[in-house]
Amino acid sequence: MPKMHKRHDKSDIFIHWFNAACWLLLLLTGVALIQNPDVNPLGAGYPKAVRFLVGGGGNLLAVHEGIGILWIIGLAFYMVVNARGAAFFLREVFSVSPARDMAWMLKKMVLMTLGPKPLKMLGMDTELPDQGYYNMGQKAFAQASVVGGVVIAVTGVVMYLSGRTFGAAAVGWVSWAVTLHFVAVGLVFAGLLVHIYMAAISPDEKPGFRSMFTGRVPDDYAKHHHKLWWNKINAGEE
Ligand code: HEM
Repeated sequence: MPKMHKRHDKSDIFIHWFNAACWLLLLLTGVALIQNPDVNPLGAGYPKAVRFLVGGGGNLLAVHEGIGILWIIGLAFYMVVNARGAAFFLREVFSVSPARDMAWMLKKMVLMTLGPKPLKMLGMDTELPDQGYYNMGQKAFAQASVVGGVVIAVTGVVMYLSGRTFGAAAVGWVSWAVTLHFVAVGLVFAGLLVHIYMAAISPDEKPGFRSMFTGRVPDDYAKHHHKLWWNKINAGEE
């Protein structure tokens, strides 16, 4: 049995999959709400079928809003229950060491797409700089999903209230909310495609994927992928 290290708490694992399930349902219902022949991402058949399934457009909107509210409440609840975990996550994700992390990001992209040759031709070291609890790719996605998530939640609440309490004077604000809601979803969704590939499909990251269920990673994975975190564990700081 290899030596293991704790990476995620039970509440971290729960909130990650709760968030992923909410995202999936919000995307499925949100895309179905778009019924405009010029911007119909999945064709006219999809919104029609989903509306039929839930008993009309009004119900579909109510379902989308309901899941959105549940999502916000779930995340807020996690922040209260595991305030330390949430603070640790935000601290790790938003602390960037520009020289080390940008070099990691650039080299990683070259290695994944073109292989080591271009780096060797430029006389550069093909080893990636050591990374901490998260690597720069994970941090970039997490930053986009935190900022994007806040924008999506706030604009969603504005739209929700617009039909209930706001008057005609708020039309400008509500239009901005609609636009920003779409932009933020697009941004996080683009990152999500890479995130799912890197986290669930890339063979290199399999131990990281398993840790999203078990909470633990093997020592050699931690040492190879998150050396600065591994150093801290061995120094008894984590
Ligand atoms: C099928 C869908 C998904 C899979 C398979 C997946 C997988 C994973 C895994 C394995 C990790 C752990 C990485 C590690 O600790 O080393 C992780 C972390 C994370 N996930 Fe997901 N995830 C999914 C959906 C989502 C969604 C929808 C979001 C948010 C929009 C999200 C946001 C995050 C964030 C912020 C982290 C921490 C930073 C990172 O590792 O990138 N995930 N995910």
